[in-house]
Amino acid sequence: MATTTTPKLTSRIAFILLATGSAVGLGNIWKFPYITGEYGGGAFVLVYLACIALIGVPVMMAEIMLGREGRQSPIHTMRHLAKSQGATNRWQIVGWMGVIAGFLILSFYSVIAGWAFAYIPEAVSGNLNGLDKTTSGALFSELTTSPWTLLFWHSLFMLLTATVVARGVRNGLEKLVRILMPALAGLLILLVGYAMASGKFMQGLDYLFNVNFQAVFYTCQAETCNFTPEPLLAALGHAFFTLSLGMGAIMIYGAYMPQQTSIASATLIIALADTVIALLAGMAIFPLVFANDLTPGAGPGLVFVTLPIAFGNMPGGQFFGSLFFILLLIAAWSSAISLVEPAVAWLTERWQWCRLRATLLVTGLAWVLGIGSVLSFNQWSGAEYQWFGKTFFDLKDYLASNILLPLGGLLIALFTAWSAQRRFSEQGLALTRGFALWWFLIRYLAPLGIALIFLHAIGLV
Ligand code: PFF
Repeated sequence: MATTTTPKLTSRIAFILLATGSAVGLGNIWKFPYITGEYGGGAFVLVYLACIALIGVPVMMAEIMLGREGRQSPIHTMRHLAKSQGATNRWQIVGWMGVIAGFLILSFYSVIAGWAFAYIPEAVSGNLNGLDKTTSGALFSELTTSPWTLLFWHSLFMLLTATVVARGVRNGLEKLVRILMPALAGLLILLVGYAMASGKFMQGLDYLFNVNFQAVFYTCQAETCNFTPEPLLAALGHAFFTLSLGMGAIMIYGAYMPQQTSIASATLIIALADTVIALLAGMAIFPLVFANDLTPGAGPGLVFVTLPIAFGNMPGGQFFGSLFFILLLIAAWSSAISLVEPAVAWLTERWQWCRLRATLLVTGLAWVLGIGSVLSFNQWSGAEYQWFGKTFFDLKDYLASNILLPLGGLLIALFTAWSAQRRFSEQGLALTRGFALWWFLIRYLAPLGIALIFLHAIGLV
C-alpha cells in the first residue's frame, strides 16, 4: 500500500530549479520554433501565450498544490486526496494517464535529445565550420537516415536519464540546473545578437509576433475560407508540454516541496523562465531561417539545420556551438528525468521496488517504444507506416501532447475546483491575495477553455 515516504526538498529555490529544469527543455528550443513554423507564426504564438497565462499558470498552481498535499506518487496522491475530499477514487485515472503520457513522450523525447547528443562531436571537431543551407541539410539527413546512429544516441541518452533517476532526483540535480539556466539564456541571447547581424532580424520578429489570424486559422480555397481548429489544439497542447503539465511530473515535484513555500510565486517564476527561453529561441532561429533561405515549416529538423549554419559562420562558433549542444542536452536530460519520476515513484511505493529496478523497467520500456521513433525518420517514414497522415513519431507526440496532457489538466482543474472543497485550495495555496482570480480561472476559464478547444478539434462546435 502507499506510504508517505517522500522526503522534502530542503529549500524553495531547489524546488524552483528542479521544476524549471523539467519545464525548460527540447520543448522550448526544438519544438516551439518548429511548430510555430508549421502553423505559420504570430497568431499561433499569441494563442500559445494566452494558453500559458490563462490555463497553464492556474493549472500548474493546482497541480503543485495537489502534489504537496498528497506527498506521494501522482496515482497515490490522487487516490488519497479523493478519499479525503469524499470523492470517488476514480480520480486516480489522472495519475495513470500521466504514466502513459510519460512513456509516450520519453520514447520520442529521447530520440530528439539523441540528435543534440550527436551534434556535440560534430561541433567539437569543427564539422560545422562553414556550413551553408545545403551542407547543413545534408549533415542532418545523414544523421536521421541512419537508424543505427539514431539508436546509438537514443540509447546513450536513455542511459544518462536512468542513471540520475535511479540515484534519486534530489541528489544534486538542482545544482546543475542552477548553472544551466543562466548559461542557456546567455547563449540564446548571443544567438539573438548574431541573428540581428544576419540582416533578416525584422522579418524574423515579424513572423513571430505579427498576428495574422487569417493566415493561421483559416484555409482558403478559391473564394471560401474555412476555420481550422488544429493550431488551437496544438497551441494548447504545447502550453502543457512546455510547462510539463497534466501528467504528474510537476505534481511529483510538488510532493517534494517545502510546506511554507509560496506556490503562486514559484509558478510565476517557472512559467516566466520557460516562456522567455522559448521566445529567445524563436527570436534567434527565425531571422536565421529567412537569412539562409530556409522554410519555417520545415518540420522537426528546423532547429538542427538552422543553428549549425549560424555556429559554422560566427566567430568562435566552434566553441559556442559545442557549448550550445551540451547545454541543450543537459536541458533535455533534466526534463526527461521528470518524465520517468511519476512511474518510478509509484513502483517504489506500491511494490516496494528499489529505485534501480523501477528505473530500469520504466526506461527500458520507453527505450523499446523509442525504436519506433527512430524508424519514423528512415525505414518507417513512408506512407504505409502512417496513421491519420502521421508517422509513429508524430502520432505519439500528438496523442501525448495534444490529447493526454490537456485532458490531464482538465481533470486536475475539475478535481481541484469542483470535487474538492474550496477550503482545501484556500489552505493549500495560502494566497494572501488573488485567490478569487485563481479560483475563477481554475473553476471556469481553464476547464471551459480546454473543453471548447477539444470540442472544436473534433468538430462538435
Ligand atoms: N517540458 C519539457 C520541455 O519543454 O522540453 C517536456 C516535458 C517534460 C513534458 C516533463 C512533460 C513532462 F512531464
